[in-house]
Order: sequence, then structure tokens, then C-alpha cells
Amino acid sequence: MSRRLNIAVIGAGYWGPQLARNLRASREWNLAAICDVDIDRARRVADAVGGAPVTAEIESVLADPLIDAIAIATPAAAHHAIAMAALDAGKHVMVEKPLADTQKRGTEMVRRASERGLVLMVDHTQCYTPAVMKMRELIAGGELGDILFVDSVRINFGLTQPDVDVFWDLAPHELSIMDFILPDGLQATSVAAHGSDPMNTGKSCIGHLTMPLDGGAMAHVHVNWLSPTRTRRMVIGGTRHTLVWDDLDPQQRLSVYDPGVDVSSISRATAQDRRAATSFRIGGIRAQAVEEREALGTVVSEFAAAIREKRTPRTSGAAGLRVLSILDAAAGSLAAYGVPQPLRHARRSAGVAA
Ligand SMILES: NC(=O)c1ccc[n+]([C@@H]2O[C@H](COP(=O)([O-])OP(=O)(O)OC[C@H]3O[C@@H](n4cnc5c(N)ncnc54)[C@H](O)[C@@H]3O)[C@@H](O)[C@H]2O)c1
Repeated sequence: MSRRLNIAVIGAGYWGPQLARNLRASREWNLAAICDVDIDRARRVADAVGGAPVTAEIESVLADPLIDAIAIATPAAAHHAIAMAALDAGKHVMVEKPLADTQKRGTEMVRRASERGLVLMVDHTQCYTPAVMKMRELIAGGELGDILFVDSVRINFGLTQPDVDVFWDLAPHELSIMDFILPDGLQATSVAAHGSDPMNTGKSCIGHLTMPLDGGAMAHVHVNWLSPTRTRRMVIGGTRHTLVWDDLDPQQRLSVYDPGVDVSSISRATAQDRRAATSFRIGGIRAQAVEEREALGTVVSEFAAAIREKRTPRTSGAAGLRVLSILDAAAGSLAAYGVPQPLRHARRSAGVAA
């Protein structure tokens, strides 16, 4: 077997320790350093994973020729500067979601990685859960037929991010999943965003995104930091079947619903007899078997495989950029009191190698 790749984790707050734990457990990686401007945090994480070199100086990490790659788990505002410096130092980069705090900065990162021939991966963790991978497989296999709608809810107590609102904190998960599972990616023609800040925190704590998709379907995302109940649920309606993903129900995380609307009779009907022609199918519900596996373990394996095989990772910088383009447009819509903002989307196949 080829040598382990050396990696440094930058940022040892909430998510950095999860990365460090999974990298330590991986046979692909050697956890070569943990770096945080707060050295005590770096030390605590190193202790928790059985020891690793720690530093508060990112420059020393980037200057180390033995380090192949870095994983960035700092707040979003710091992603761009760290990623650009790392790419310039010849390191492969995995960056936490969202890829960057603006589309312009994300574009620069993708371009720089491509110019340098380095892997730029975004940790869209949810795309590596067995349930989401199964959803993608079912949709690609035609189980749902044509997609009619996607409804997604991610709500819980939050307010943990100092630099981003609820859209930038939670919606990247929903958007990255949609981009991953829909056959042509998330091809939204526009996005309308409505947010509210009922506790006067200075940023949206509750948000709704409405996105008409190419082909007439509608996607909707609801995110909320103020909900005492936790919901992680996505419903994807199709002409044949409907898929329901309830991530908090381990007994029935993923179900295929047979009942649906007979769309073919709708499309054949004239305006006058449309109501009469609409019919609802009845049928059963099938729970799909999905294995229980930590997604982050697959994330770190994919990063190593993309480096070794010199290929685009499954959640590439380009995928991160597609999510950013929607978040950026959503911010524009929010500033314009919900007026939909048109989107010029890049097809998945047009993604840069990074
Ligand atoms: N993939 C997921 O499911 C998931 C889950 C949670 C958070 N995240 C992402 O992870 C990132 C970090 O989130 P968090 O909740 O861990 O944040 P956090 O604030 O808890 O931790 C960030 C850490 O980065 C350190 N830091 C900041 N700037 C730095 C710099 N220039 N150099 C070195 N260290 C620096 C801080 O001192 C802090 O310890 C965010 O982008 C967030 O969106 C991803």
C-alpha cells in the first residue's frame, strides 16, 4: 500500500475535532498537525485523538514540505484566505461548508486549485450519508419518475455562528444534498429568500428559500435556529413515487411512497376538465434499508482517493460554488425584500477539475 498522506486540520472549535477524529481513524491519513489560533483548543483536540503536533502558526504548517493537504474547519470568513495560501503552498485543500463567504471568493479558490492542479474539495458531509447516497441512486434509477417538487426542512436551536445567518449556516446542507441527488444537479432558475429576525440578533434566524427548477418543479428550503424541536426532513415528489428522508428516524430514515397524483391525466386535460381528470393513486409505503455509517469517514476517504487518483472529488470546489451561487443570490433577494433573483447556473459537467 502507498504511504499515508499527511494532513493538518486548521480550526479546532466544534467541527475540527470531528475531522481530526475521522482522520486519525483513517488508514489513508496521518494527522500531521492541528492548528488553531487558540493553541489550547488545538491541544485539547490533540489529546482527545491520542496526540498530534499542535501549532498556532499556520505559516509553519504551510511551509512544511511533508504536509500534503489541509482540512479547513474555521468560520466561513477565514476559508478563502487560508485556502488560497495553502493552494499557493502546493497543498491539496478540503474546506468546510460553505466553500467561502462570497461567490467571488469561492470562484477564486476553484480557479486557483485548477491552475495549480490541486484537489479542492468541499465537505458537504450530508452527501456522504448512506441515506443520501441511496436517494441519489433511486432518483438516477428512475424510481421517482420526473421530479415535481422538493421540500426540505432543517430546524433546531442554533444561533452558534457569529459571522453568518441561518441561510449560510444551515441551507448549504439542503442545497448540497439537492445538487447531489437531482439528476442534473440543482438547476434553479431563480431564488427568492425570506428571512426573519424576531429576537433582533442582527441576522436572519428563520429562513425560507423558494427555487423554481428547470422543467417546472419547485424546490423549497426551510431553515430555523429558534426551533426547540429538531427536524431533518426532505420530501421529493415525482410522477411515479415520492421519496421521504427523515434523518432523525433511524427505523425509517428513507421511505418510498407509492401514492401520488396521476400527472399524465393532468397534462392531457383541458383547462375545463382538469379538475375532474386529476386522480390520486393509492398504494403502500416501502422503507428502504440503509446502512449505519458515519459520513465523515467516507468524506476523508474520498479526499484521499481524489488526491491519489488525481481526479475531481465527488463534492468538488465546483459543487461548493453552485451552492454559493444560490446563497449569494438568496442574500440579494433578502436585501430586496424577497424579490426573486435570477440564477445563471453552471451545469455539473461544466465543473472545473477542482
Ligand atoms: N460539515 C458539517 O456538517 C459542519 C458542521 C458544523 C460546522 N461546519 C463548518 O465548519 C466550520 C467551522 O465551524 P465550527 O462550528 O467548528 O466553528 P467554531 O467557531 O466552533 O471553530 C472555529 C475554530 O477556528 C479557529 N480559527 C479561526 N480562524 C483561524 C485561523 N485563521 N487559523 C487557525 N484557526 C482559526 C477558531 O479559534 C476556532 O477554534 C464552518 O465553516 C462551519 O460551517 C460544518
